[in-house]
Amino acid sequence: MISITVDEEWFEGRDGQTIAGVLIGSGRITWRTAQTGERGVFCGIGVCHDCLVTVNGLPGVRACQRTAGDGDVIESEVRA
Ligand code: FES
Repeated sequence: MISITVDEEWFEGRDGQTIAGVLIGSGRITWRTAQTGERGVFCGIGVCHDCLVTVNGLPGVRACQRTAGDGDVIESEVRA
């Protein structure tokens, strides 16, 4: 098991899960705000960039492609 923090909220997942997998598995389906509204996973294969998050201070990380690491600190992003 691993645990991550997203917007100061704690989530638990399994080793090898992506950040998006941990979030969706916990019931959170959106985590980014864009002009078009609340966004989360759209393509799930790294193409659309709808799932961007900041991971440990690094912005623009695709949550559907990044394996969640124990202790990762994740922030949702607001894009105009
Ligand atoms: S959901 Fe499309 S890049 Fe992550």
